[in-house]
Amino acid sequence: MNAEFKELLGEVVKHLKEFTRSQMVNIDILLGQVDIITWKGLKAVKKKFSSEVGILKWLPPSIFYKASYPFTVVSHERFRRELQFFLSGGGRWFKVPKIYEVDEENTILIREFIDGSKLTYELGVSELLGKVLAEIHLRGYALGDVKPSNFIVSDGIYVIDAEQAVITSNNDLFSWDLILTLLFISYRYVVEPKDFKIFVKHFIESYIEGGGSILNVKSIFSIRNLSIALLIPPHTLKSIVEVLSEEKII
Ligand SMILES: Nc1ncnc2c1ncn2[C@@H]1O[C@H](COP(=O)(O)OP(=O)(O)OP(=O)(O)O)[C@@H](O)[C@H]1O
Ligand SMILES: [Mg+2]
Repeated sequence: MNAEFKELLGEVVKHLKEFTRSQMVNIDILLGQVDIITWKGLKAVKKKFSSEVGILKWLPPSIFYKASYPFTVVSHERFRRELQFFLSGGGRWFKVPKIYEVDEENTILIREFIDGSKLTYELGVSELLGKVLAEIHLRGYALGDVKPSNFIVSDGIYVIDAEQAVITSNNDLFSWDLILTLLFISYRYVVEPKDFKIFVKHFIESYIEGGGSILNVKSIFSIRNLSIALLIPPHTLKSIVEVLSEEKII
């Protein structure tokens, strides 16, 4: 049995024992990592990287998408990944919350509260989002978890959750961020195929203009991403293929 799998299994068994010992399971406590607090008079967010969240939320992706992205369930590693990404700072197109306090022993990070709105993939955000991902990838980071609630739109786009971010030079991991983003966008525009195609065109063009590698875009349909490609509704998938071929990428 390989060491990684043994470690995973060890974590699962440990928590299964704890779950079966307790009479009642409170799902909010199990899945909630985030509290809004006041820190030295400032509105702040306290995030505790817990093993329960690791198992319940990250075990399925770390098994099903093992071949596609190196998700981790381990709380210290999620803590380390997020801290590393936040400490590397924002850039021209994206920002990260300021870190107020680091408690490595208890895997707690207290960070700036960002007042803004949800990322809802309105057409107007397509270019900025392309530039944001390009800039992050150019720095050598893949985010892994690019779901919309991990971004806040304020004066620019903030990345507020980077617990699966890794430093890499692997095109497939950058393209994972792209295809997962396209999956979320495809459901947002599932009944508006024309707008979907416009969004994708602007998103991809801006990604490349922003310095994102064409190889990453080409790898969107790599074998490793097939499991995500299959979840994209067929008519929107067709639009993605059309945009990539119109842009002479594939
Ligand atoms: N710095 C912040 N400023 C404002 N809101 C925040 C901040 N950090 C987190 N939040 C809010 O808390 C939610 C959860 O935070 P985060 O994504 O870091 O934790 P999570 O455990 O991964 O939760 P989820 O499963 O919802 O992604 C965010 O979607 C956002 O609404
Ligand atoms: Mg999150």
